[in-house]
Amino acid sequence: MLERLENKEPPRVRLANTPTRGHWLRYGEQLGTKIWVKRDDHTGSELSGNKVRKLEYLMAEALQQQATHVITCGGEQSNHARATAMAATQLGLKSVLVLRTENPEQPPATTGNILLDRLAGAEIRWISRPAWRDRNRLMAEEAERVRSAGGKPYIIPEGGSNALGSWGYLRAARELVEDLAGIAAPENPVTIVYACGSGGTGAGLVLGCKLLGLSALGIRVAGINVCDDRPYFVDAIGKICGDFEERWQLDARVTPGDIDIVDGHVGLGYAKSRPEELATIRDVCRSDGIVLDPVYTGKAFHGLVTELKKDPKRFGAAVAFIHTGGMFGLFANPETIGGVL
Ligand SMILES: Cc1ncc(COP(=O)(O)O)c(C=O)c1O
Repeated sequence: MLERLENKEPPRVRLANTPTRGHWLRYGEQLGTKIWVKRDDHTGSELSGNKVRKLEYLMAEALQQQATHVITCGGEQSNHARATAMAATQLGLKSVLVLRTENPEQPPATTGNILLDRLAGAEIRWISRPAWRDRNRLMAEEAERVRSAGGKPYIIPEGGSNALGSWGYLRAARELVEDLAGIAAPENPVTIVYACGSGGTGAGLVLGCKLLGLSALGIRVAGINVCDDRPYFVDAIGKICGDFEERWQLDARVTPGDIDIVDGHVGLGYAKSRPEELATIRDVCRSDGIVLDPVYTGKAFHGLVTELKKDPKRFGAAVAFIHTGGMFGLFANPETIGGVL
């Protein structure tokens, strides 16, 4: 299978510092379980986090198509949009970001990811929450504008989450097999846990699980959703896996039963934090010196802790938590986390 995978792997442009390292967290001990963390927040600095792994394939296709501009979308503090803007600049392309905000007439302050978007020279189009439903049409409009000015646009969907982007975490799953050798075994199962926001990371990991036969090694995969709900992500991840299958025909045969989403931890809603989530971010930093973000990794980690408090063996003998980055979001609203310090 590895040979078939390698033969079908699409072109990739190197953007990420991989393989990323992993280590045990002291924090797990107080929960009576073992938590190992894969430091995908170290895939780079301005290009840190999970998005970079997907962008390696997406940007390679943009370059192949001789694009001059990449266009993508996200929330106002989107890590994906920032990573896309930075990657585009590194590769000599321009970027256009369609970003959702409360009131487009009064764009948000230039903090966190927005600061980096602007530093990288991204053009930003602010849109309202109701207009977000039309994001694909609005990106197509931007593409038309680029074309009529003589440029060549390449559109990247929300979160870089499509079949091509899913190769990023399929590749990461190969790293995880090496990472977890000596930790996971059929009699000592380990669950890879990740924050699920648009489904691309999940799709790559689920495909990796199937194609690399991870269950025989005692490795499972579970996402903790930070928005929407379980049925939404079983459908979204299933669709990406279906598109992947159609395009590369690797016989992954992903079924809804292969997609494990641990629901119930969205709390107040996407990008809204409860004090207990912020307290977990604080406590993990004070215990282990690692920084989680409020929107994705902090919320998912808090969900993980909540599950482990109910049952320390809920995820098997150990958890392998993927730290998917997002730290710049912490600096967008420092007063929020400031409330628990
Ligand atoms: C830091 C971070 N973690 C996790 C996610 C979720 O990844 P995905 O969109 O692939 O589900 C995102 C983006 O949405 C993110 O920025």
